Amino acid sequence: MSVLLSSASASVAPKLITELPGPNARRVLAGDARWVSPSYTRSYPLVARRGCGMRVEDVDGNEFLDFSAGIAVCSTGHCHPEVVAAIQKQAGELLHMSGTDFYYEHMVTLAEQLEPLAPFDGPIKVFYGNSGAEAVEAAIKLARYHTRRPFVIGFYNSFHGRTMGALSLTSSKITQRARLGALLPGFFHIPYPDLYRPLHGSVDTAAACLEDLDRLFHTTTNPTEVAAIVLEAVQGEGGYVVPPSTFVQEIRRICTRHGILLVVDEVQAGCGRTGKMWAIEHHDVEPDIVCSAKGIASGLPLGVMFSRAEIMDWTPGAHASTFGGNPVALAAAEVTVRLLQGGLIRNAAEIGAYLMQRLQTWPSKFPNVGQVRGLGLMIGIELVEDQQSRKRAPELRDRLVDAAFYKGLLVLGCGPNTLRLMPPLICTKQEADVALEILEACLRDHGQTRTQ
Ligand SMILES: Cc1ncc(COP(=O)(O)O)c(C=O)c1O
Repeated sequence: MSVLLSSASASVAPKLITELPGPNARRVLAGDARWVSPSYTRSYPLVARRGCGMRVEDVDGNEFLDFSAGIAVCSTGHCHPEVVAAIQKQAGELLHMSGTDFYYEHMVTLAEQLEPLAPFDGPIKVFYGNSGAEAVEAAIKLARYHTRRPFVIGFYNSFHGRTMGALSLTSSKITQRARLGALLPGFFHIPYPDLYRPLHGSVDTAAACLEDLDRLFHTTTNPTEVAAIVLEAVQGEGGYVVPPSTFVQEIRRICTRHGILLVVDEVQAGCGRTGKMWAIEHHDVEPDIVCSAKGIASGLPLGVMFSRAEIMDWTPGAHASTFGGNPVALAAAEVTVRLLQGGLIRNAAEIGAYLMQRLQTWPSKFPNVGQVRGLGLMIGIELVEDQQSRKRAPELRDRLVDAAFYKGLLVLGCGPNTLRLMPPLICTKQEADVALEILEACLRDHGQTRTQ
């Protein structure tokens, strides 16, 4: 590694012992190229063999520092011993029974744990699926079922999953939709306020976005026919964009006024990542339906959709899933939620604040860093050609993501030109320091630096 680290940091630094990709990785990559769907979007040739805490070891014994957490999934770190123990115990007792047709206690236990944590008052009811997309599908179906209204409104640049319903709501990248149409009818999109990139140069971008919604209501769909507005409380794949709380609060008021359900997609931002259990809590807004997945089960596939109890009024057969709420995934989720409450949410807030305080100096040090933004351990670094024009720099972002890998740091991009930091919530200051030192080195190698 070319990055110079203090001796304290060196103990948590990546350890690279072969060229990348190494010989074993190259063998897997050849097999992957031969047999695996080319639709995946791998940024660099990491071939993972095992993970422990903040570290991932590849098939050649190289150790990486993980600031991607398997796309915001390994909230408790890789293979947290308590999560692994719960999975092993459950696997020895009951692998599957199907909550569609039978009962088992874990479906009750997790719901009981989630109720006091819900971002709204009162009782909840919970539907279990296997993924984020399935949680969103369930929310769309429930909203239509409960309201008996056909239309759903989402936001440009949002990502909600790749099944046909969730994809109809998604408006993130054209490659995700190209040649897959026609998608579901009845979905509309409005702009999401990005304070760094005001809509059409507006002074008040949140107001401009709300004007678009108003226009939609006056020209395209009557609000009384809208079942739900689906919102990411922090936009994830779209670029880690934090909307102004006043905007989210106004969306809530509009929903209440017209009997529209407010659905929050907390698949990426939820489960403590932003320093609160649910990202919507930062906006002081109570939604009606919550979608969760990714970090909720520390790496096992689980999608959770919960709502105010009175909303979940569908009848037997209206929706179900053979595997959804699998007992092993639920056992992992129960421990995960306990660990989140037991200190990891607090840690996400603390380490997130520490990272942000260090990163705030980057725009003055690096002309290609346009903006650093985020909440907790959901941090986006937007790369631009220059700070004056704010012209997006997607190639530079991709080069940085790539360069970080070759220095042993796993990060990913989001949006057209943003680099995201989403480490496991167990991240320490030392690990944060190492990650930033590596990224600074990458920026010095590939971007511009201020002339001293
Ligand atoms: C906000 C959001 N919703 C939904 C999804 C879809 O989740 P999954 O890939 O588990 O279907 C994602 C995935 O990135 C997401 O970020």
